[in-house]
Amino acid sequence: MAGSDAPIVVLDSGLGGLTVVQSIHRALPYEQIVYFGDTARLPYGSKTAKVVTQFVRQIIEYLLPLAPKHVVIACNTASALALPAVRELFPELEITGVVEPGAKAAITAAPGAAPVIGVIATEATVRSRAYVLAIQRHRPSAKVICRATPLLVPIIEEGRTAADPLVRMCLEQYLRPVLDQRPCALVLGCTHYPILRDLISQIVGDQVAVIDSADQSAQDVRLRLGSAGKLRHAEMDLAEMLRPAALPPLELSPHPWLRCYVTDDSPRFATLASRFLGIAVRQPEVVLPDLLYANMNIAAASASPF
Ligand code: DGL
Repeated sequence: MAGSDAPIVVLDSGLGGLTVVQSIHRALPYEQIVYFGDTARLPYGSKTAKVVTQFVRQIIEYLLPLAPKHVVIACNTASALALPAVRELFPELEITGVVEPGAKAAITAAPGAAPVIGVIATEATVRSRAYVLAIQRHRPSAKVICRATPLLVPIIEEGRTAADPLVRMCLEQYLRPVLDQRPCALVLGCTHYPILRDLISQIVGDQVAVIDSADQSAQDVRLRLGSAGKLRHAEMDLAEMLRPAALPPLELSPHPWLRCYVTDDSPRFATLASRFLGIAVRQPEVVLPDLLYANMNIAAASASPF
């Protein structure tokens, strides 16, 4: 069984899950985090549930020897399409997604019995209606307006920043129909989008609360690990756990805490990850998709009685 020194695994199709890594590290600075970005098979947002479930299954299967104490599917698309299936496949693991925390954060930010809440996300997340269901579970009369914004992931993975006029144009076009419905909150329903958060906030204006799932996801991980007695920092007691997390600067990390894997050796990954996290991220280890497929077949064969 995974003990308190085991790592937390965080996975996504690319860079986006680093927004969740950042929040987890701030909430839990003593934890080791293993990050897996499936860069060769990105984007997940245009794929079917069957394929995305297979990808996530392969990644978890590959990382199983690390005996992670918690797995965060830091991808809204994979959370929406694959979370229940993956939980069933790995009943021994504690696995959480980011849609439920995102919905919780939106409800907290949206006052009234029937708030109008905008959600921007990938095509697959929008099609799944995961956010509508999750938000209306908490607030049945909420009006949830979802808009697919498929160009944003490639734009962000390309390293384009808010200063780029193309980025602004794209966001303005995508957001206009959502803003026409006068939402009080806008959920960034893809873990890549907080990378453009400042520009998005500027475009939607002060009246609209811009929400993402990263901080809420980190708090959920913290509570779950705390109640399972698996926090790495031995002195952290329950009272401390329940206090809002202190935010130490990332550079002051007490130990090398992040190890990254990717499925394609993009020189861009380490550069963009370093730019985003504000620390020098080492070159990630490359695990080609072939190895993930082969590894899954080996696991399936060794599970066979013959
Ligand atoms: N970051 C991901 C999400 O939260 C997925 C992006 C993609 O690969 O399409 O949905």
